[in-house]
Parts: sequence; C-alpha cells; structure tokens
Amino acid sequence: MSFKNFKVVPKMIYGRGSFAELENVLAAQRKQDSDYVVFLVDDVHKGKPLESRIPLKAQDLLVWVNVDDEPSTEQIDSLTEQVQAFSDKQAVSVIGLGGGSTIDVAKAVSLMLTNPGGSAKYQGWDLIENPAVHHVGIPTISGTGAEASRTAVLCGPERKLGLNSDYTVFDQIIMDPELIQGVPTDQWFYTGMDCYIHCIESLEGTFLNEFSKSYGEKALALCREVYLDDHPEKDDKLMMASFMGGMSIAYSQVGACHAISYGLGYVLGYHHGIGNCIAFDVLEEFYPEGVAEFRRMLKKHNVTLPKNICKDLPDETIEKMVKVAKSMGPLWHNVYGDNWAEKVTDEMLTKLYRRI
Ligand SMILES: NC(=O)c1ccc[n+]([C@@H]2O[C@H](COP(=O)([O-])OP(=O)(O)OC[C@H]3O[C@@H](n4cnc5c(N)ncnc54)[C@H](O)[C@@H]3O)[C@@H](O)[C@H]2O)c1
Ligand SMILES: [Fe+2]
Repeated sequence: MSFKNFKVVPKMIYGRGSFAELENVLAAQRKQDSDYVVFLVDDVHKGKPLESRIPLKAQDLLVWVNVDDEPSTEQIDSLTEQVQAFSDKQAVSVIGLGGGSTIDVAKAVSLMLTNPGGSAKYQGWDLIENPAVHHVGIPTISGTGAEASRTAVLCGPERKLGLNSDYTVFDQIIMDPELIQGVPTDQWFYTGMDCYIHCIESLEGTFLNEFSKSYGEKALALCREVYLDDHPEKDDKLMMASFMGGMSIAYSQVGACHAISYGLGYVLGYHHGIGNCIAFDVLEEFYPEGVAEFRRMLKKHNVTLPKNICKDLPDETIEKMVKVAKSMGPLWHNVYGDNWAEKVTDEMLTKLYRRI
C-alpha cells in the first residue's frame, strides 16, 4: 500500500483586505534594489480599482493575462519567453492574480523559468526537475481550489493535462474575499459549482478517507450556505469552500463529472466550470442527491445551461469525447472501485454524451 505524501501551501493569509499584505510578502523576497517581481494579472482587472492597488515597483513586470481560452502550453511558453526577454536576472517572485486560469498560468510560468525545454514536456506527474521561482496565488473568483492544488492544468498538443508536482504548489497564497465581489452571476455560479462538484465526487467516491471527508463535508456545508441560503458572508464562505474543496480532492480524487467534462472541454472547448455544470446535470444515476440539490441551486440563481449540445453531433465527435472521458482511469477508479474498467464502456459514455 502506498500513501500520498501531500505537499501543502506553506504560507497563507486570509481575510477581508488582506490583499494589502502582498507588499510585505514581496518585500521579504526583494533583497537587492534590482530584484524584480512578475505580476500575471487577469485582464478583466485592467482599469479597475484593483489595478491601482498592485504593489508594482519601477523595475517590476506586469503582464495582463487573457483567459478567453483556458491556459495552453503555447501561452505558457510565450509568457515565459516574455519574462526571460525582460531581464537577464531571474525574477524573485511570480504573482498570479485572477481566477483558476490565471493562477495556473502563474504556477506554470514560475516552473518554466527554471525548467528548460517548453511546458508540454512536463505535462504529467512529477516530471519537473528544478524548484520553481517563488510564486504567489491570489484568487479573484472562487471554486476551482487551484490555490490549494499541486497542479497547473494546461491544454497541450496532445491533451489537457496538468504540470503535477510538489514544486507546482504555491509558496504563498492570499485569500481576500473582497476580491471576489462583483463577479457576474453566471460565472460565479459555474466556478463555485466546480467546488460543489469536487465535494460530491470526493464524498461519494471509493477513495474517500477521513482526511478528505473532513475537508469535503465542511466545503459542502459552506457551498450550501452560499448557493442555497444566500448567506450575507457568502464571499468569505465561498473562498474557504474553494480551498477546502481543493484539499479534499487532493487526498482523494474527482469523479464521473470531471471525466465527462474533460471530454466536453477538449473536444468542444467548454471551460471547466460550465463544462462541469453541463455534465453534472445528466449524472443523476451517479449522484442522485447531489444532482437534485444542484438543480435547486440553478433554479434559485436563474442560471440556464445550454441544452442539446451533443444530440446531433457527428458520431466521430462523440467518439473523441468518449475517448477522452474513458482515459481518465483514476477518476473512474474513484467512481467504481477496482473493477472500474469493466463498467466504463463506450456505450455507457456515448449515451451520457448524447443526453447533453
Ligand atoms: N489547478 C487546479 O487544481 C485546477 C482545478 C480546477 C480547475 N482548474 C483550471 O481553472 C480554470 C478555470 O478557472 P475559473 O473557473 O476560476 O475561471 P477563469 O480563471 O477562467 O475565469 C473565469 C472568468 O471570470 C473572470 N474573472 C475572474 N475574476 C473576476 C472578478 N473578480 N470579477 C469579474 N470577473 C472575473 C475571468 O476574466 C474569466 O472571464 C480552468 O483552466 C481549469 O482547467 C485548475
Ligand atoms: Fe474541477
């Protein structure tokens, strides 16, 4: 039997207004006058009040990151080149300020600054050789748990696969609930449901253990306060739910919804959050109570999901998605247990996709 030796984020700051601490965090990294920091910031914040609060010094580099498409190995390689062209010296810190996409970009760039050869080479598990540049994650939308995880998910030449390693884990995160205020409702819902679904998949999975259950149950309770009770402190709660949901799956695994959603993402380009919601809505046989509650949440927030996306697609397109979903062995292992391979048939997956 092997046990996971789970690397966690060593330093975290939590609380309303805590973004202001970033300056002190960076001061500890800046040893010489010429030491510079790289800020990778979601371009949704361009021209907004948050921009003027970034503790940018004259020698620093700020790059606006566009996340219309989810992060790709090409984008990471070009950002890394941009940073390398900026100075002969190594950066002393890389900051990711934005959603799951932007903070994954920051993780990946901090790794590629010290690991040569392009990011596609490192898609997989524990392929990274050298420690990353000091890197800091600051979410401005909550749900993915990317602030807590040891992966940076990238769309590569062959597949969507993360840079999974202990070096990927942030050195520091700052969780300031004020930063997620004002996220548009649909996006707030899709990204938050990523967390809700992490909890359901983890808690219903065969890999469940007390470690992930402890985090998963609390994260699920917080999601209910946010999405069903409209709690006045919902931003504070969702930010903690995201972190704890991430901790829960790190010591177990996601499940059927993520497997189906990866197919939708890779073949049809659906982003992670919305793809999960679309997939979850057809998984009542897998997660009956979770799906029923999810539909109550959808209704409460007047969110309507796209329908009949796959009904009339050519067979080859469905086959491609089935192939991606089927390749997610560990996820299906978590769903069905040891004999998962017998249960995950093309027929079962095709039926599910056709209902989407
Ligand atoms: N590393 C991990 O462990 C992990 C886990 C799950 C998902 N992911 C990845 O995370 C990505 C999805 O992340 P996400 O759902 O957070 O979405 P995202 O980062 O793609 O952002 C979604 C949208 O919200 C906008 N946005 C962000 N902050 C905002 C704010 N404060 N106000 C208004 N708009 C704001 C963005 O500009 C974007 O348009 C995917 O690429 C997925 O693969 C990673
Ligand atoms: Fe997810």
